[in-house]
Amino acid sequence: MKNKVTVIGAGNVGATCGLLLAMRNLCDVVLIDIPAMENPTKGKALDIAQAAATLGFEGRVTGGSDYAMSEGSDIVVLTAGLARKPGMDRLDLLRKNADIVKDCVENAVKHSPDCKIIVVTNPIDVMVYHAWKICGFPAERVFGQAGVLDSSRYATFVSMEMNTSIREISAMVLGGHGDSMVPLPRFTTVAGVPITELLPAERIAAMNERTAKGGGEIVQLLGTGSAYYAPAASTVKMVAAVLQDTKAILPCSTLLSGQYGISDVFVGVPVKLGARGVEEILELPLKPDELSALQKSAAIYVKSIAEL
Ligand code: 2OP
Repeated sequence: MKNKVTVIGAGNVGATCGLLLAMRNLCDVVLIDIPAMENPTKGKALDIAQAAATLGFEGRVTGGSDYAMSEGSDIVVLTAGLARKPGMDRLDLLRKNADIVKDCVENAVKHSPDCKIIVVTNPIDVMVYHAWKICGFPAERVFGQAGVLDSSRYATFVSMEMNTSIREISAMVLGGHGDSMVPLPRFTTVAGVPITELLPAERIAAMNERTAKGGGEIVQLLGTGSAYYAPAASTVKMVAAVLQDTKAILPCSTLLSGQYGISDVFVGVPVKLGARGVEEILELPLKPDELSALQKSAAIYVKSIAEL
């Protein structure tokens, strides 16, 4: 049976997800947006579908505003929401995007009661909690993107710094998807060697800072909107891990219940992703300063959830 993935929100992140998903040849793809965006959404889906003959993918790609199209999806990716403008924090988007997420999740689960939900809408760690509460699914089926994106950015900066192939680098960034995120140099390796053994502390500190502000750097450069190629690629990596049941270990925003001394909040930690969704939460042996940074990051989202 063919897999089916619905992407809600056919803006830059959503449409790029659609293209990359189709190119992976893993599933049929449905793009959904609001009725006012019906034609552009149909147009983007048709445009992607017309790349199939050239790129050689076989999944069907369709788009529109009727959630009936999403019927029976294995995964629903939620990208709908406002993006940051220069100078805005992701948390500034909280209230507006919470209403959007509520509407999308309610509609999506009516048609796909057995799906997994991957939340990409910012502020991700709050929106994924919100989505989980609304759908009532077991927490293993609702998780947020971002650790994959933040780790990908960190790996990019390490690769630039060391002039080394990106393939040699394994990077790990935990915590919430915001300035409080926690890059972990001890768990970031080049050919298996931690960067703490390879680079001076001040260079690592600079890369940590650039990673934590990585999304803002793109927002400033674009002038309008926020990043989409790397966010979409990171989301597709998570979708593939679930559809192919790879058991990949990826940092994702997941509900913690005591791990790392944190409870009742979604925040980025390494998880095993497979057919059931988040199949296991891994507890890295963090040093006290690393653990305290992760707990501080989580505390920010506890506060935002309370505000919501
Ligand atoms: C980013 O970090 C959009 O939050 C996303 O680029």
